[in-house]
Amino acid sequence: MTCKKMLKFNLIVAVCDNFGIGIRGDLPWQIKSELKYFSRTTKRISDPTKRNVAIMGRRTYFGIPANKRPLPERLNIVLSTTLKHDDLPDDVLLFPNLESAMQHLESVDLKDEIENVWIVGGSGVYAEAMSSPRCHRLYITKIQQHFECDTFFPNIPASFREVSPDTDTPLGVQEENGIKYEYKILEKQ
Ligand SMILES: NC(=O)c1ccc[n+]([C@@H]2O[C@H](COP(=O)([O-])OP(=O)(O)OC[C@H]3O[C@@H](n4cnc5c(N)ncnc54)[C@H](OP(=O)(O)O)[C@@H]3O)[C@@H](O)[C@H]2O)c1
Repeated sequence: MTCKKMLKFNLIVAVCDNFGIGIRGDLPWQIKSELKYFSRTTKRISDPTKRNVAIMGRRTYFGIPANKRPLPERLNIVLSTTLKHDDLPDDVLLFPNLESAMQHLESVDLKDEIENVWIVGGSGVYAEAMSSPRCHRLYITKIQQHFECDTFFPNIPASFREVSPDTDTPLGVQEENGIKYEYKILEKQ
C-alpha cells in the first residue's frame, strides 16, 4: 500500500514594523523591487511542464489591479463563501476555504501539473495557513518602517524558525524610495 503524501504550501507576505499588511484594500507602501520579488518567487519552478498555485482571499484578489489579475503564469485560487463562479474569470478556481482548495489540488488530475502552492493573503487566510500542518515555509519581507494599516499579519506560531535564504534571495537590508526592508525565510521545525 502506498502512503499518500500531504500537499504542502508556503506563505509569502510583506509586513511592516506595526505588523500591517494592507490599507483600504491596497498595499500601504509602493516598493517595485519587492513586488518583483513576490512575482519571481511565486512563479519559480524547476519543472517547465508545471506551474505554481497562488491561493488568496476574496479581498486580496480584487485588490490586485484589474489589468494584473489573475496573477499570470500561476493557477489562481480565490477563497470566498459569497462569490459565485460567474464573478471570476473561467481560469480562476473558487473554494470556500483553504482545506477544500488543497484537497482539490491533491486530486489525481491536478497534482502532476503543479509544483508549489503559495498562500498570498490576506489576514484570515494567513492565520488558517499558519495553523495548518501543510504549512512549510513563511517568506516574509520585513519592512522597517511604520505605516498606517487596517489589515494585519497574525501572530507567527513559535514552531517557525528562521532558515538560510534561497540562493536567489537578495541578502541584507534593501532600500527603495527611502524605505528599508529585508527578506527573511522561516520554516516549521
Ligand atoms: N502585504 C502583503 O503581503 C499583502 C498580501 C495580501 C493582501 N494584502 C492586503 O491585505 C488586504 C486584504 O486582506 P484581508 O485580510 O482584508 O482579506 P482577504 O483575506 O484577502 O479576503 C477576505 C475574504 O476571503 C474569504 N475567506 C476564505 N477563507 C478565509 C479564511 N480562512 N479567513 C478569512 N477569509 C477567508 C472571505 O470571503 P467571503 O466573505 O466572500 O466569504 C473573506 O471575507 C488588502 O489591503 C491587501 O492589499 C497584503
